[in-house]
Amino acid sequence: MKGLLEICYLIGSVTFIVGLKLMGNAKTARKGNLIGAFGMTIAILGTIFLHNTEHTSREFIKIVLIFGGIAIGTGIGWLTAKRVQMTKMPELVSMFNGMGGACAALIGLAEFKHNIGNTGALAFIMAGLVIGSISFAGSVIAYLKLSGKINKPIRLPKYNILNNVFFLIVAAFAIYLVISAETINPLLIWVLFVMACIYGVLFVFPIGGADMPVVISLLNSFTGLAAAFGGFLYDNKVMLTGGILVGSAGTLLTLAMCKAMNRPLSNVIFGAFGGGGGAAAASSEVDGNIKDIQVSDLAVMLNYSKKVVIVPGYGLAVAQAQHVIHELEKLLEERGVEVKYAIHPVAGRMPGHMNVLLAEANVEYDKLVEMEDINPEFEQTDVVLVVGANDVVNPAAKTDPSSPIYGMPILEVDKAKNIVVNKRSMNAGYAGIENLLFYNPKCSMFFGDAKKALTQLVAEIKQL
Ligand code: TAP
Repeated sequence: MKGLLEICYLIGSVTFIVGLKLMGNAKTARKGNLIGAFGMTIAILGTIFLHNTEHTSREFIKIVLIFGGIAIGTGIGWLTAKRVQMTKMPELVSMFNGMGGACAALIGLAEFKHNIGNTGALAFIMAGLVIGSISFAGSVIAYLKLSGKINKPIRLPKYNILNNVFFLIVAAFAIYLVISAETINPLLIWVLFVMACIYGVLFVFPIGGADMPVVISLLNSFTGLAAAFGGFLYDNKVMLTGGILVGSAGTLLTLAMCKAMNRPLSNVIFGAFGGGGGAAAASSEVDGNIKDIQVSDLAVMLNYSKKVVIVPGYGLAVAQAQHVIHELEKLLEERGVEVKYAIHPVAGRMPGHMNVLLAEANVEYDKLVEMEDINPEFEQTDVVLVVGANDVVNPAAKTDPSSPIYGMPILEVDKAKNIVVNKRSMNAGYAGIENLLFYNPKCSMFFGDAKKALTQLVAEIKQL
C-alpha cells in the first residue's frame, strides 16, 4: 500500500510540473490546469484511502467527514469560479489564496499538541502557522480592498518600522513556543495565530488598492511556502512539491510584475505609490495642444489604413469593450486592413489581464503581440489606436528621469504614423501622472467611454 501511495504522489508531483509548464502558454493553459487538477485528485484519493488502512468505525467517520468537506468546498469553489466576472478575477484569486493560507494555519493549530517534544516538527509547524496566517489575513484584506469595501491605504506614521517590530515579536513568540512547548499551556498556539493574523492585516493595510495584484502574488508565494512546511512536517512529497512550485511561481510572478513596472518590491510594500487614484498628481504645466478627432474622420482614417495596431489598457476592461473591439478588428480585416493588438506586460491591473479579456471576446491569440515584438513594428503602422491605456504608452518612462515610471519599458506608439487615444477625459492613469503623448502633433484624442465610442466607430465604418 505504501508503494502505491508513493506512486500516487509521484503522479501528483509530475502532473503539477507538467501542468505548470502548459500554463505558460494561453493555448495550452486550460489543458495544464486540468492535468494539475487530475494529479491533485489522485494525490488526495491516495492519501485518503492508502495512507491509513485501518478499517475501524472511527476511520470510517473520518473519511465521511473528509468527503463532506470536499463536497462543500468543491461546491462553493465551483459556483464562485463559474459566476465570477472577468474583472473580479483578482478578488477570486485572493480569496482562494487566503483559503490555502488558512489550511496551512489550521494544520499548525491541529498538530501543535501532538508534536510536543519533537523540536524539528514544532519548528515546521510554527513556520507554516505563522506564514499561513499572514497569508490568510492579508488575502482577506486584499480582497476587501480590491472589491472596494476598503478603499483607502491606511498608513500609520512610521508604519513600516512598527510593522517590522511587530513581525519580530511574532517570530520571537513562535520561537518561544517551540523552545518551551513542554512547559506551557498548548492553547498559547492560538495567541500566535491571532498575532500572525494581525500582522497579515498590518502588512496589507497600508498598500494602495491598485498594487494589490503584486501583493496577492506575494501572498500566494507565502501560501506555497506554508504548504511546503506542511510537506516537511508530514514527510509528504506531493505537498512539498506543490508548495515549492506555488512558492517559487508566486515569487517569480511578483518579481516579474515589479520588473515590468520598474519598481522594487520594497516600493510596492512600503511606497506610497499607486493608490489607484485618478488625476490627482497630474502635472498642470504642459506645453502644447491636444486635438480631438470626430468619429467620422477616425472611421475614414482606419478604413483606408494598411496596418492598425490596437493598444488595450485598463479602461478597455472597465468599459467592458472587449467584444466591440473584436468587432472593429474583424470589420477592418474584412476591408483588407492588417490588425494586431499590442500587449504590455502590466496593461490593466493583473498579470495577463488583457490576454484574458480579449480571449473572452474570442480574439485570436496570434493577434496579440508582446511588447518586445510589436515595438519594432510601430514605425510601419499607419494608425495606433490606444483604448483606455495610459501609463503603458507614456513616453515619460523613457525621457523624464524624475517621473515615477522612469525606466518602465513602454509600448513605443509615438513611432507610428498616426496615434489615436480613446479615453473619457484628460485624467491620469494608475501612476497619476501627465502623459505627453496626448500633446504629440501626431496624436488625436477620441474622447468617450470605450464601449460607447467604439460602438459608434463600428457603426460609422459600416456605412463607408
Ligand atoms: P492606466 O495607466 O491605469 O490608464 C487607464 C486609462 O483608462 C485611464 O487614464 C482612464 O482615463 C481610462 N479609462 C478608464 N475608464 C475608461 C472607460 N470606461 N473608457 C475609456 N477609457 C477609460 O492603464 P494602463 O495603461 O493599462 O496601465 C496599467 C497601470 O497599472 C500601469 O501603471 C501598471 O504599472 C499598473 N499595474 C498593473 C498591474 C498588472 S499586473 N497589470 C498590477 C498593478 C499595477 P479616463 O479616466 O480619462 O477615461
